[in-house]
Amino acid sequence: MTIADRPPIVGFIGTGHIATFHSKMLKRSGVEMIRGGCYDIDTARAEVFAQSSGSTVMNSEAEVIASSDIVYICTWTNEHQRLVDMCIAAGKPFFCEKPLSTGFDQAREMYDAASGSGLTHQCGLILRRSPAYLWARELITDPAAGAPMAVVFRDDQFIPIQGHYKSTWRGDVEKAGAGTLLEHSIHDVDMLRFLIGDVASVSARATYQHGIEGIEDCVAASVQFANGAIGTLTTIWHDNLSRPSLRHVEVFCENRTVIIAGDDWFGPITWSDSDGSTGSLEGEELLAKTAPLAHTHANPDAAFVLTAMNKESGFPDFSIALEAHRIVEAMYESARNEGANINVASVK
Ligand SMILES: NC(=O)c1ccc[n+]([C@@H]2O[C@H](COP(=O)([O-])OP(=O)(O)OC[C@H]3O[C@@H](n4cnc5c(N)ncnc54)[C@H](O)[C@@H]3O)[C@@H](O)[C@H]2O)c1
Repeated sequence: MTIADRPPIVGFIGTGHIATFHSKMLKRSGVEMIRGGCYDIDTARAEVFAQSSGSTVMNSEAEVIASSDIVYICTWTNEHQRLVDMCIAAGKPFFCEKPLSTGFDQAREMYDAASGSGLTHQCGLILRRSPAYLWARELITDPAAGAPMAVVFRDDQFIPIQGHYKSTWRGDVEKAGAGTLLEHSIHDVDMLRFLIGDVASVSARATYQHGIEGIEDCVAASVQFANGAIGTLTTIWHDNLSRPSLRHVEVFCENRTVIIAGDDWFGPITWSDSDGSTGSLEGEELLAKTAPLAHTHANPDAAFVLTAMNKESGFPDFSIALEAHRIVEAMYESARNEGANINVASVK
């Protein structure tokens, strides 16, 4: 039976925090599907996930892949490449969480394999469907705004080896690859491209104030965009448990200033123009206005299922993830070299 003959069977490998999020989003989407197998090396976690999602606990990754039409890869990062390769070998469309991998070379290999396979695939750069960022992009690309000049992007959260994340693997460089920039702010790097444009060069500094080997907890980067705009990205993993994940973004165009504050999904987003006019949008109104702007579907998981069923390209795919990895790698290279200017195109 092909995937088009009946609702697709959805399988999960890795059943932690983000798998639970995707499972809930699938349910909320109302898109028809059949809950298939799930597998986690932590069987107790798989059982909890199976109970809440209606999935069936299986004994191996291979069993989930063989019995599913489409597969979610939600393990910690250093397992992603192997599991993507297994999905490709089995001819199964896959959703792979961000970051694709712990390093740039593996991300490039994964991009080559995924794009060469012709299979629908999607990565977890979820802010590509965020109402706040979609609306900000509309405001920035509106000709009335004039050219973008500068962006100030700040992202802070408590270091997620504690609190509700409780993920010890984020303190293990083998599994996570690096700290706040790769593990968390690859989203932000992708949003810098989405909002302003391609990044030409970067200069960055990193600190390791928690003393965890290979896991930086602060990065401050200066960014030169190809279109002439400039900007900064500051990302911080602190210990203030009252701040789980907060972003604040200010974009200055010739004739318009745009501010994204508060929630990534619900805003508010505010703007002010050189003619004195101002605007603000948040909550359900923001969602309704931006739903038509989202690629395929406003719900990222509905989008994955629908594109996979129709054998279409997923969005965002690995080509978008690879460009974010390239910029992140350039920032790390700069930080290793005392903030040297690094041309992003030199990362190959
Ligand atoms: N898109 C987003 O906004 C977002 C948010 C959070 C996490 N993530 C990403 O999702 C991934 C998982 O993060 P999380 O927060 O869910 O972590 P988590 O610790 O809650 O869950 C990861 C699970 O993977 C399991 N696992 C590890 N290797 C496995 C394997 N080979 N087979 C089966 N299970 C395996 C672990 O036992 C664990 O239960 C990471 O790559 C992370 O960067 C993305």
